[in-house]
Amino acid sequence: MAKILILGGTQWLGRTIAQQALGDGHEVACLARGTTGGFPEGATAITADRDTGGAYDAAAGQWDLVVELTRKPSHAKAAVEALSPHTEHWVYVSSCSAYALHSKPGAAEAAKLLTALDSTAEYTDEQYGAAKAGCEWLTVASRGNAALLVRPGLIGGPGDPTGRTTYWPLRFAAGREPVLVPDDEGDARYVQIVDVRDLAAFILRAGLDGRHGPVNAVGAEMPLGDVIASAQSAAGYTGTVAPYPLHRMEEDGVGPWAGPRSLPLVLPAGSDFAGFARRSDRKALRWGLVRRPLAETFADIIAADGRLPGADDDGPRSGLSADHETDLIGQLA
Ligand SMILES: NC(=O)c1ccc[n+]([C@@H]2O[C@H](COP(=O)([O-])OP(=O)(O)OC[C@H]3O[C@@H](n4cnc5c(N)ncnc54)[C@H](OP(=O)(O)O)[C@@H]3O)[C@@H](O)[C@H]2O)c1
Repeated sequence: MAKILILGGTQWLGRTIAQQALGDGHEVACLARGTTGGFPEGATAITADRDTGGAYDAAAGQWDLVVELTRKPSHAKAAVEALSPHTEHWVYVSSCSAYALHSKPGAAEAAKLLTALDSTAEYTDEQYGAAKAGCEWLTVASRGNAALLVRPGLIGGPGDPTGRTTYWPLRFAAGREPVLVPDDEGDARYVQIVDVRDLAAFILRAGLDGRHGPVNAVGAEMPLGDVIASAQSAAGYTGTVAPYPLHRMEEDGVGPWAGPRSLPLVLPAGSDFAGFARRSDRKALRWGLVRRPLAETFADIIAADGRLPGADDDGPRSGLSADHETDLIGQLA
């Protein structure tokens, strides 16, 4: 049994890590404000605001593993300085968004990162990738080899707070005909979705195994059309579809990838994103990443619908509203 401290643990991935670690018989503490959803049952709750001084005082002690999820370099620096001397191994959950370029399919962990955001700079969401690079840099500066840097690609599964991976299975499950589906007109668009539960298991396994250095934790590379077909089949949808030529997106005011009025998972055309969802997964597979089939992820999303956090919110977090979809289909006719 290991003593594990999660810096976070009250939201999606962090909570999944905490629950799996508890299920495996480890002793788990989570440090967060606890403002969103409370602490996982069975974990020791350490309520602290990391934007204020002394946030780590109540976490003093000996830890076998710290799992850090922050996006703020100021948090990463203060935590590693306060807790590192009492911690055997450290995992920083970074992101493939930390990479400088997304144009080359098959790029591995040695690819260049964005210029790191400094710990004194104020964090904004626009600087997410640079901030994750900054957190990595600060972690390594303090821990050297005794740190694992996990770089997830797109995370999917039940409870996805962004709605990117839930939109297509839930749209097909809704059954309303026809379903507007992307027609990428021969452009090679790809998607790599790693299930949140598989990612959590990998983070714990690699962390407790004492792995160090960077590793891409990404899903299997799949053509966009196969991903849409998998969502359709998981929902058992046999109705009509309306193929939507993706070259129309800009003039129709339809966004790529995520957010309201978008086609989720559809990357912008062109070479800049040709490698975005085609990152090398070789190292993670060598280190024990086990991935369930995407069809299972989609089936579980459908089964969990209505019990997902945010399910009662107005409209989809990512994707088209029913009215917008109907308008677009009308314009195709
Ligand atoms: N979604 C994706 O596709 C994707 C892709 C690549 C990488 N990632 C990375 O994967 C991780 C996702 O983590 P997650 O799902 O658990 O959500 P998250 O929103 O990144 O979690 C942040 C955690 O930090 C805590 N926190 C935030 N501000 C705090 C403060 N001032 N003081 C104390 N605690 C604070 C939050 O809890 P409280 O609000 O309760 O304080 C929460 O538990 C992140 O590292 C993200 O960058 C995500």
